[in-house]
Amino acid sequence: MSETAPEIRKGLVGVYADESTVSKVMPETNSLTYRGYAVQDLCEEASFDEVAYLLWNGELPNAKELAAFQAEEKANRALSPALLRVLHDFPKDAHPMDAIRTAVSFLGMEDPETADISDAAQRRKAMRIFAKAPTAVAAAFRLSKGMEPIAPDASLSYSENFFHVVFGKVPAKEVIKAFDVSMILYAEHTFNASTFTARTVTSTMADIHGAITAGIAALKGPLHGGANEAVMHMLKEIPSPEVAEAWLRQRFDHKALVMGFGHRVYKSGDSRVPTMKKYAEVMAEVVGDKRWMNTSAELARVMLAEKNIHPNLDFPAGPAYYLMGFDIPLFTPIFVCSRIVGWSAHVLEQMADNRLIRPLSFYTGLEQRPVPPMGAR
Ligand code: COA
Repeated sequence: MSETAPEIRKGLVGVYADESTVSKVMPETNSLTYRGYAVQDLCEEASFDEVAYLLWNGELPNAKELAAFQAEEKANRALSPALLRVLHDFPKDAHPMDAIRTAVSFLGMEDPETADISDAAQRRKAMRIFAKAPTAVAAAFRLSKGMEPIAPDASLSYSENFFHVVFGKVPAKEVIKAFDVSMILYAEHTFNASTFTARTVTSTMADIHGAITAGIAALKGPLHGGANEAVMHMLKEIPSPEVAEAWLRQRFDHKALVMGFGHRVYKSGDSRVPTMKKYAEVMAEVVGDKRWMNTSAELARVMLAEKNIHPNLDFPAGPAYYLMGFDIPLFTPIFVCSRIVGWSAHVLEQMADNRLIRPLSFYTGLEQRPVPPMGAR
């Protein structure tokens, strides 16, 4: 007996799964707002920690609220000796995304409030994960290179401290600003795959460490966050801007994906690209190396002319991070540190008005049949 197939939206394309007040993507105008503020305005007027406060609380902080938020973040940056020991024992060739995923999961085991899923406790835990993630990303990375971790420095801002724990020094303020902008742009983007994963985990009433660990697992894939690393590998494969077009045409011949292009929601341009491109160009100026931006411009020109496909945020973010001096395997973990903010905002929102997320599948397998005895198989 065959049933009539229901409409299946593969990849949940075009499906509204819930309401949300955290952010809004408007593909018709290539724009994105966080709690009603245009993301490009936040990049020019606010710091990453102010944006984190905004996403978690719905409003930008005043000076007193910001000072309290920053003080709490700074006070929570250190890792426990137990976690540092575990990080020492990670395989040296482990991908930094696997390291941060495991570190966040470990934080859940040692957090005194893991089992408390009240709104107040979830907020305190979100802050602890937010503050400790850069320390863990940097420590795992340094250990994989045979270097000792660097202790966080509470006299530094979030973004300054990020460079401090990775490199042991703080770069020029233009570099800090470009990094801070990238963190604002990566912080939140409605119901993307990792955020929806975090909300699905939360909908079972599991804890926030579990939701964020699952979010990191989803972000690692090259169709999602992993694309910023893939972009840089691609740029390094192209010997010069002059041969970028020929390189791309070979890709077209093989029907291969071009990383850093295309988006499920934006079809005529990603709202975040112009701002990130501007700061990637600042980085090219600061470093005095325009090669990557010139190759990027060539790729973007040909992709648009030939395929009508625009770049996404990962396209300018990849070379920007490279010019900041980060090793390529750190790019997606940096994205993690930023998106922890968005995931947490969605965990809080999901928990505040929860219903278990449980869709249906339309069965297309074999008809029901008897189990044959062993001798008849
Ligand atoms: N390179 C080459 N072709 C691409 C492409 C890319 N980056 N992105 C989309 N296309 C093509 C598809 O192959 C498809 O062609 P077809 O109609 O001939 O089959 C067409 O454009 C429509 O794309 P579709 O697969 O419907 O898009 P999607 O919404 O399912 O996928 C992405 C969106 C992001 C997964 C996809 O664009 C992609 O894989 N991009 C590269 C990875 C990336 O940069 N990810 C970061 C996202 S922020």
